[in-house]
Amino acid sequence: MSDFNLPTELVSALRLARHVVALTGAGISAESGLPTFRDAMTGLWAQYRPEELATPEAFQRNPKLVWEWYAWRRQLVEAAAPNPAHHALAALERLVPRLTLITQNVDSLHQLAGSSAVIELHGNIRRTRCFANGHPAETWDESKAVPPRCTICGSPLRPGVVWFGERLPEEALNNAIEASATCDFFFSIGTSGMVEPAASLPQVALKFGATVIFINLDVEDKTTPPLFRLNGKAGTLLPALVAAAWPDDGEVEG
Ligand code: OAD
Repeated sequence: MSDFNLPTELVSALRLARHVVALTGAGISAESGLPTFRDAMTGLWAQYRPEELATPEAFQRNPKLVWEWYAWRRQLVEAAAPNPAHHALAALERLVPRLTLITQNVDSLHQLAGSSAVIELHGNIRRTRCFANGHPAETWDESKAVPPRCTICGSPLRPGVVWFGERLPEEALNNAIEASATCDFFFSIGTSGMVEPAASLPQVALKFGATVIFINLDVEDKTTPPLFRLNGKAGTLLPALVAAAWPDDGEVEG
């Protein structure tokens, strides 16, 4: 089905893989209509300053601004649906012996596409907790205070995402590193690789002998096994790659 010249070494490495890791970033959700962070014109950080919106200090300085910015992003996320790239990874999970999906995204679109056990490195925007004690909150009354207050301790509520300067969830990070060190095929999809520690995971995989492929819009095509770079949209390339590796399994649903 593919119109692309997918490198045959890449297709056969995927077909033979026993443990695939996929690390995803904002680019995989771009075709679902969600803005990325660093794309020059459309990225969130082209319009907003992360230090004013995505740090604990920013929240303490201006909690209303931060709460409202995340409320706006939560609305975008709630209106979005998985695209063919998310569906291709969900399909891939059923085709390989083991797949570990690690995401920096906070949008749940992998889970909505049917992927299981997603490792969320940066939390999830659909979850809310209080700033002081991390008490989870399911519902709140926005008519009284913005941000609303925790019903247990009175602390302001904040989004359940990881901000700059905060620690990543320890178990998620350990699982991500362990999977990257033990996989035999590693995808980096739709991430600029600017934010640590996620940015180092492809290097971990390469060091321990995996085939590594980068798919995004700011790489040049390159075939130097075990390293591959494909420039193009994840929603086009991923279904094509999965279909090329399993030609008998029919079209990957999109
Ligand atoms: P970035 O915005 O930094 O990078 C998005 C990447 O996706 C770029 O490399 C684009 O070329 C690529 N891209 C855009 N559209 C694409 C498409 N249709 N198909 C494939 N690739 C596409 O986003 P992240 O790398 O995810 O953290 O950013 C990492 C972290 O920085 C985020 O989790 C967030 C941000 O600040 C926090 O907020 C803590």
